[in-house]
Amino acid sequence: MTKKQISWWRNAAIYQVYPRSFQDSNGDGEGDLQGVISRLDYLKSLGIDAIWLSPFYTSPNKDGGYDVSNPRDVDPRFGTMNDAEELIHAAHNRDLRIIVDIVPNHFSTEHVWFKEAVASPAGSPARARFHFYDGRGESGEIPPNNWCSIFGGPAWSRVTESDGTPGQWYLHLFDSTQADLNWENSDVHEDFEKTLRFWLDKGVDGFRIDVAHGLAKEEILKDHRDPEGLTRALRLDISDMPREEREFLLSDVPFFDREGVHEIYRNWRKIFDSYPGERMSVAEAWVHPSSRATRYVRSDELHQIFNFDFLIAEWNADFLKQAVEKTIREVSAVDAPATWVLCNHDSPRLVTRLGGGEEGRIKARAMALLTQALPGGIYIFQGEELGLEDSPIPDDRRQDPVFFRTKGVDKGRDGARIPIPWNSELKHFGFTAGEPWLPMPSHWSSLAVNKQTEKNCHLELYKDSLRIRKELYLDRKIRSEKVKKSSEFLTWIDVPEGILAFSRDEFFVLYANTTGNAITLKLESRHLYNEIVLSSSEGALSQDGTLHLPAHTTVWLVILNRAG
Ligand code: GLC
Repeated sequence: MTKKQISWWRNAAIYQVYPRSFQDSNGDGEGDLQGVISRLDYLKSLGIDAIWLSPFYTSPNKDGGYDVSNPRDVDPRFGTMNDAEELIHAAHNRDLRIIVDIVPNHFSTEHVWFKEAVASPAGSPARARFHFYDGRGESGEIPPNNWCSIFGGPAWSRVTESDGTPGQWYLHLFDSTQADLNWENSDVHEDFEKTLRFWLDKGVDGFRIDVAHGLAKEEILKDHRDPEGLTRALRLDISDMPREEREFLLSDVPFFDREGVHEIYRNWRKIFDSYPGERMSVAEAWVHPSSRATRYVRSDELHQIFNFDFLIAEWNADFLKQAVEKTIREVSAVDAPATWVLCNHDSPRLVTRLGGGEEGRIKARAMALLTQALPGGIYIFQGEELGLEDSPIPDDRRQDPVFFRTKGVDKGRDGARIPIPWNSELKHFGFTAGEPWLPMPSHWSSLAVNKQTEKNCHLELYKDSLRIRKELYLDRKIRSEKVKKSSEFLTWIDVPEGILAFSRDEFFVLYANTTGNAITLKLESRHLYNEIVLSSSEGALSQDGTLHLPAHTTVWLVILNRAG
């Protein structure tokens, strides 16, 4: 790396592919790796830098593949190891990087280790790889503590011992088919290091670390004061909990964000750094207060941590400004780049969260332009670029364990996992020649990729914004200068309530109107000569030192020097 280049991931646009719902190539109704390969040109045309693939490893698929039974093999439903290698290669040929998921908090109960543990006696080395404990009560019938699974119900299940008697309990913070691993056990460390090297050797450019804050547990035999409340607070798809209540509950989670996780990541970092190229890692870690997130991205730990502030954000200038300020302040302290995430496979789709329908879509466009103009890296969830919404799914078609474990009280996360509509002319919009694993709503036809060719459609907006973002910040400016802290790239501009505005360097200005009314503003004198390079809706106008902003609109202005 020459002195003037900065690491690719610091400002990257990374696109999340949920393989099961992206593109089916063999007619079984579920997406697969060959399907992803067939859509690489589409992904390239978006202007992204890397693809993050949700798990495609061997799995009984009780939690969409996050229940891994062999992390070093490909599940037949997704294809073969050859397909995975071909995908990595084909992506690299197009200058797209590949990030894969790693799921270190738990193994599927179908993993050979778990089967061995159940067949072995209490206290055996095979059980020591998981959290097996005797129950409480006279005959051990009460779980070792009162923790709840994040998916609902108790966080413990009881095994039947080989003599047929009810036996010990094992911990599962998620589904009962996802047994938590004991990270005090050296076999666990060794096995994950092997898995990292396995995929690094295959050429992957990085890892998204699932439940990265989970691994180490403390006070495992102590009851929690409000286990059910805590579970709800931990769920991304539940939006009815007041923010203050959520934050209070999250301020003290006995099984998350313990000191022990950092030693693990320091070891992993050494592995990443021992490989050529800039291999990276991004942590999925919900930590509170959020300032603790920076501990995961210290210079000898991980590279990025998802910032989930925008994942639950309303379209509200005040809130957004505070979230941006806080994030940039926090990550700058450890010289890590910020990340911005608007939705993912665990949360409602952005349009839905912002109210749904046309207004939701208009706000989502404005939110996207705001997000993509911020310093740092961005994550885009498949279909976000199309403006898709969650859609009702009949209960008998639902697959998320959340739905089953809560006995249908929580509908779960399937809404965001409905397959991608590629072509309005084809059956099931070209996703599959078979029956899609989740029903695809017929009204999506106008949102299909082949329909989004008009200049101002959602997809074209994303293509434009990703291209301009790169031109302005990666090609024109940042790449030509030595690395700076992200905080140096943003200056707030004084604006009336409901508006948010900032400049980055001397040549880029953003205005966002989060209100339902159009507004005309006076621009600062240093921004007098400008050009609107992108607007999330029609009707924005910059003229004679004033800026007219329609309701719910974000505009990007490039400042011209006097000579034009
Ligand atoms: C992460 C994944 C989610 C999964 C959970 C358990 O939060 O994003 O989909 O259910 O971990 O592995």
